[in-house]
Amino acid sequence: MKVFNIGIIGFGGFGKFLFNAWNQLDNVQVTSIADINAAAITGIENVAFFIDWKDMILSENIDLIAIVTEPSTHQVIANACMRAGKHVLIEKPLAINTSDARAIIKQEIRQE
Ligand SMILES: NC(=O)c1ccc[n+]([C@@H]2O[C@H](COP(=O)([O-])OP(=O)(O)OC[C@H]3O[C@@H](n4cnc5c(N)ncnc54)[C@H](O)[C@@H]3O)[C@@H](O)[C@H]2O)c1
Repeated sequence: MKVFNIGIIGFGGFGKFLFNAWNQLDNVQVTSIADINAAAITGIENVAFFIDWKDMILSENIDLIAIVTEPSTHQVIANACMRAGKHVLIEKPLAINTSDARAIIKQEIRQE
């Protein structure tokens, strides 16, 4: 059975919910978590922690990245993850406007 490695960006309320749900499955494992707030990441073992998500998305030990930050940040993070060759799961809402949503769908490259 293939085990898919997951990275989570944003470890607030819903990031923790996803982590706990995936922990109960056999074919996925959370290998990495990034959050700008180091205090958000406590009491978790065997997971690599990052403050800067840009460092995390370079990891070869991740198949899929769950983007669980505030919606205004989704476009920049999602496009960078896809450019890094990762599958993405983006929490709803996808974006805060149609321009950002289209940029994600088209995998548009923009300056930050
Ligand atoms: N699918 C659902 O039913 C559902 C339910 C709740 C929330 N959500 C969505 O999930 C997302 C997060 O919601 P939440 O309630 O967990 O919010 P939250 O505020 O509890 O958590 C957000 C986390 O992201 C971190 N963060 C912010 N900017 C970051 C960055 N640049 N890099 C790394 N970490 C960063 C924050 O420090 C925080 O820990 C939102 O898009 C929300 O709409 C979806």
